[in-house]
Amino acid sequence: MPEDRRFITFEGIDGSGKTTQMRLLGKRLRARGRDVYETVEPGGTAVGQQIRRILLDSTNQDLRPTAELLLYFASRAQNLEQCIVPALRAGRVVLCDRFTDSTLAYQGYARGLGAGTVLALDRIACRGLSPDLTLLIDVDVDTGLARMRARNANGTAGETRLDDEPREFHRKVRDAYLVIARENPGRIRVIDGRGAPEEVAARVWENMQDHV
Ligand code: TMP
Repeated sequence: MPEDRRFITFEGIDGSGKTTQMRLLGKRLRARGRDVYETVEPGGTAVGQQIRRILLDSTNQDLRPTAELLLYFASRAQNLEQCIVPALRAGRVVLCDRFTDSTLAYQGYARGLGAGTVLALDRIACRGLSPDLTLLIDVDVDTGLARMRARNANGTAGETRLDDEPREFHRKVRDAYLVIARENPGRIRVIDGRGAPEEVAARVWENMQDHV
């Protein structure tokens, strides 16, 4: 993998299957001898996990959009400095489950805070570090919602604050992702997320061919 393709992010609406795909890609890269570091936003560090609990706690319905936005970036700034940058400096491939494209789609577009505000905070929190490659796992909203509800019924209860948003919110997020992908054709690959995990993984792998 060339030096400049080591920070890879996974994006998608809730229930898109991106987390599964990131793990499968990590496994495949390790099998080829790559030193892979996997992380997640929000979360990824001990401090980030505490921030994640606040963000996704369904009892925090009164969390204001600006406070929410700053908490996502607080988690990211911590992860970047504590884990992501050191891993990249050590020559590892970093796979991150969500990054600033999530904030653009969810807070910038769906919540209406604006891309300009999100990008201004990105400059402070990420200090110029952006993904070399982003895999957007795209599914339609109904597929995503159905998978997400099945997953929540199976025990991730408590992490549902954003999942409780109406269908319209998730539709805006998906539309935003597709716009962001069109605006960044060099960095973002849109992957059809329909079908079994192995089928989607094969599509992810095809899109990795010039990066492995
Ligand atoms: P996850 O379920 O993929 O771990 O993501 C947690 C939730 O947080 C998901 O509903 C998307 C949301 N989110 C944002 O709204 N903004 C962000 O910047 C990030 C990283 C996630």
